[in-house]
Amino acid sequence: MCGIVGYVGGRDALDIVVEALRRMEYRGYDSAGVAILDGQGHTAIEKKAGRLENLDKQIATVGRDSLAGSTGMGHTRWATHGQPTDRNAHPHVSLDGKIAVVHNGIIENYAPLRAELEAEGVEFASDTDTETAVHLISREYTQGATAGDFVASAYAALRRLDGAFTLVFTHSDHPDTIVAARRSTPLVVGVGDGEMFVASDVTAFIEHTRDAVELGHDEVVVITADSYTVTDFDQEPREGKPFHIDWDLAAAEKGGHDFFMLKEIAEQPAALADTMLGHLEDGRIVLDEQRLTDDDLRDVDKVFVVACGTAYHAGLLAKYAIEHWTRLPVEVELASEFRYRDPVLDRSTLVVAISQSGETADTLEAVRHAKDQKARVLAICNTNGAQIPRESDAVLYTHAGPEIGVASTKCFLAQIAAAYMVGLALAQARGTKYADEVAREFAAMESMTEAVREVLDTMEPVRELARSLAHHNTVLFIGRHVGYPVALEGALKLKELAYMHAEGFAAGELKHGPIALIEDGLPVIIVMPSPAGRALLHSKMVSNIREIQARGARTIVISEADDVAAQTVADHFIPIPSTPTLLQPLVSTVPLQVFAATVAQTRGYDVDKPRNLAKSVTVE
Ligand code: AGP
Repeated sequence: MCGIVGYVGGRDALDIVVEALRRMEYRGYDSAGVAILDGQGHTAIEKKAGRLENLDKQIATVGRDSLAGSTGMGHTRWATHGQPTDRNAHPHVSLDGKIAVVHNGIIENYAPLRAELEAEGVEFASDTDTETAVHLISREYTQGATAGDFVASAYAALRRLDGAFTLVFTHSDHPDTIVAARRSTPLVVGVGDGEMFVASDVTAFIEHTRDAVELGHDEVVVITADSYTVTDFDQEPREGKPFHIDWDLAAAEKGGHDFFMLKEIAEQPAALADTMLGHLEDGRIVLDEQRLTDDDLRDVDKVFVVACGTAYHAGLLAKYAIEHWTRLPVEVELASEFRYRDPVLDRSTLVVAISQSGETADTLEAVRHAKDQKARVLAICNTNGAQIPRESDAVLYTHAGPEIGVASTKCFLAQIAAAYMVGLALAQARGTKYADEVAREFAAMESMTEAVREVLDTMEPVRELARSLAHHNTVLFIGRHVGYPVALEGALKLKELAYMHAEGFAAGELKHGPIALIEDGLPVIIVMPSPAGRALLHSKMVSNIREIQARGARTIVISEADDVAAQTVADHFIPIPSTPTLLQPLVSTVPLQVFAATVAQTRGYDVDKPRNLAKSVTVE
């Protein structure tokens, strides 16, 4: 998720663009860059890896005179393709320097397009998928049927692109015009007085205008200082949705939510979709930087998953999927324990290290220990170029975008999807699943984006319940099969957000001791097994619920909407969509995230920055 802004108007573009990037730095901070058109046929580009302050210093060094102009655009990058370096920073430009582009999202078919352009002699200056777009436009503008027509050339190039992206283009010889397009990722127009903006979100221009126009999927907007024209990719007119922004700036950065975590919970459908995008090519699962061949994957005779906290819970879920799909034994270890117990590893062991930040010291040290023992390491990470993926043999990036809230939410769901894709890649390489079976499982995973969106739309009763329970001192969470790691995650969320004692159990363990904790009115949240997928476990769980109800527990049951048996033993029933067994955690986790965040809000705590915690724990 990157930050993008474009400006056409009568004022100094540099100040407006840089300030907009500052307001959007939370969207991505791997690099930043600007393109400023002088109106005399030249575009000045300045860009720098790292945080915006690095670009500020570079601009101060080169001097503002070389960046004068009233048309420009800027970009803060959350790296997806290509390491976060100066050369991969946006904007990217055509060979003649005339056309510039900034990009958010993924151009799925960039590889064949790059090969096509390189075959014509185009020399790429970066490793990004973005650069493909600017060379495509340049070819259309210089030799295509739309030669000399910037806007028509942009449309011709856009129609060649697949994926989920927002793109903004400028041309030195057409300084009064900016072309912007969106396919899935956000783009909004800011309508000023004699000036116009395009941006990833309203925070970029809210201090200049509160009149905006929302663009829909597969739409293009051409802006000048006093006009905007919206069409589809075939240049057929579209309306765009004008709206007035009534948020203050702080709320705007959070998309209108009170906290980043709430925004990130709402972003989970997109995080899932973006994480899976492009990983099924010609019916085969492809990982990101897979430096492991199919032969390497066939050599694997044991899998270890190492992680911490929420990532560890994703690892527990990975075990169910990988063992079921590949019949390989999978051990899941807390990274902080892994290397101290001298695990049995060798070159036939695959260690999967899951880490949102990619910098967690416990997990990094576990990776180093695994490498010392000659095991192969595959990282699942949300931060491009972080230390853990750099030291691993292969990496599968989650594309959840920056997760600002310390408590992990969208990255957890993205980690589950990524871990399941690793399981499918192993099954595919080892032949334990045919190609059509892999494609079917992947399609079922893709359908979960809609299922998560459906759950998010039904969370008000969960918020009301959380507010009514916020005064309690303890909540227990129980689950069976894939519901057990979800119960652990729900307990962790409540602990770290509301500072409330919470504990997750395997439901079958209750009668072996923990049931002594049950007393009158004690809230117990139950994650029910799928009645269709795990009928035997489902009936056992109904019995478990009866046992605790008989001892006074207040039962809060999360189960499929048509699960009548579960409803009969629920003091509070939270319905979720019916899903395949292994995919249920993607929907059953959401109510637990909302529950914990609402209890914390009710208690008046900072949901984004819980006490004593850090977003990335870089000490052991
Ligand atoms: C998640 O809500 C916690 N903040 C924490 O447990 C986190 O999952 C853990 O520290 C691992 O972080 P990582 O994914 O960046 O390695």
